[in-house]
Amino acid sequence: MTLDTLQEYIAAIDRIGELVRISEPVRTRLEIAEIADRCMKSPGGGPALLFEHPVLEDGRRSEFPVAINLFGSMRRMCLALGVDNLDDIGGRISELLNLKVPDGLLGKLSMLPKLAEVAKFPPRTRSGRPACQEVVWQGGDIDLDRIPFLTTWPQDGGRYITLPMVITMDPERGIRNVGMYRVQVLGRDSLAMHWQRHKVGAHHWRALAEQGRKMEVAIAIGADPASVYSGSAPLPPTIDEFIFAGFLRKAPVELARAVTVDLEVPAEAEMVIEGFIDPTEPLVMEGPFGDHTGFYSLADLYPRVQVTAVTMKKKPVYAATLVGRPPMEDYYLGHATERIFLPLLKLTTPEVVDYHMPACGIFHNLVFVAIDKQYPGQAYKVMNALWGAGLMSLAKVLVIVDKEVNVRDPDEAWWIALNNIDPERDVRFTKGPVDVLDHSSQFFTFGSKMGIDGTRKWKDEGFTREWPELITMDDATRQRVDELWPRLGIRLEPGARAAGGRAKA
Ligand SMILES: Cc1cc2nc3c(=O)[nH]c(=O)nc-3n(C[C@H](O)[C@H](O)[C@H](O)COP(=O)(O)O)c2cc1C
Repeated sequence: MTLDTLQEYIAAIDRIGELVRISEPVRTRLEIAEIADRCMKSPGGGPALLFEHPVLEDGRRSEFPVAINLFGSMRRMCLALGVDNLDDIGGRISELLNLKVPDGLLGKLSMLPKLAEVAKFPPRTRSGRPACQEVVWQGGDIDLDRIPFLTTWPQDGGRYITLPMVITMDPERGIRNVGMYRVQVLGRDSLAMHWQRHKVGAHHWRALAEQGRKMEVAIAIGADPASVYSGSAPLPPTIDEFIFAGFLRKAPVELARAVTVDLEVPAEAEMVIEGFIDPTEPLVMEGPFGDHTGFYSLADLYPRVQVTAVTMKKKPVYAATLVGRPPMEDYYLGHATERIFLPLLKLTTPEVVDYHMPACGIFHNLVFVAIDKQYPGQAYKVMNALWGAGLMSLAKVLVIVDKEVNVRDPDEAWWIALNNIDPERDVRFTKGPVDVLDHSSQFFTFGSKMGIDGTRKWKDEGFTREWPELITMDDATRQRVDELWPRLGIRLEPGARAAGGRAKA
């Protein structure tokens, strides 16, 4: 079933029993965040929450409900993208990438439907008044203080839009970008845009500002779940996120012209905030903000958005998320990206068998990579490739292990890697761009990185000692114990692992 709106998605979450409706009045200042945090920290990510009666900072009841943690479990993330398993999407991408040109004209023609799949669902522009413009605030009617934006942590600089789709246009190439960048609410009609310097929206802004041109921005909140997710996906700047969302949904995203800016927005968005950035205006202080590192990110200068219109459905739901000490909802969004992008990573580094960014590593701090090592020094080749690839270039610590290691299990990955390294020999440092949120780097966004070669060492890599065997029980004994087991009266917790593990490194 294709989910075309956020409210359809919320209904679907309800049907699978993962939604809790909260009728109790709860404050948008800190209280919703504290409730959501307790849920997100529970095993599996906790339920999605719909606060039916949020209380605004000034004590008024909000006209709009707040939904949070909508993507915060494996099951909901799969539901959002219409799959049973997130690897299924990677599978679809692999099929496209592994196309072997068949012989003969008929064979070649049979490829066309597959090739067409990528471009089959481009966004469609709807005519007439779209749902997201049933209500339009312009001029003196614009009042962001009526919307239940959350203050999430005590030392935050203010209220934030935390789950937006920030829509901008590349001034040179005319290609749209959609990015999930938090936005601070500065007043009734004023915002601060926190796109970090490595991100595509920031690139568009720099390009326009250099030419002294005003930049138009549309911030959509709540749409079909594939579009919301796509804003967080690190797609190359040449790919329009709404085309990617169409590929994920297997149906086009419907767009509509915005009211006051020359941009298109999801016709089914719950709310859209339109505005512009004036390059002659000074930057404004944004932050501090309790961030997904688990620390406050420091206040810094970012561009101000002057709001020109707020449009919405008659009965919109305001969608938010909460970031903070992991695990949080964004782990599941990032995990979807990890799975979906595996085939694309393999395109340039075919020896990569699997990779994983564990929750504690908040994506850029720690990446485990399993490789099919075929020649000496290959772990270093993979490190260098990854440090040169898109946002993966921001990765702080890369741990490379052999293909048998289950990198999706951080305990197993560390166990093998730590056994396999001689630190002085197998750890390398390099320099490069680091994430804006890294508070430890020597300079802002520039620092060092560490690559750990946790693969088995070869003779031609200079290792002359004998490499030991991994301990595993023999099959005959295991079989005999399997037969005995029911008679032993031993009850183990589900998931308990037999000594020896499953790695064969
Ligand atoms: C919940 C959440 C909040 C995020 N906040 C920001 C942010 O404030 N600024 C930013 O630059 N990236 C933020 N990101 C990461 C970007 O969404 C991500 O890097 C995305 O690929 C950016 O899109 P782009 O590649 O089109 O620039 C956030 C991601 C998530 C899941």
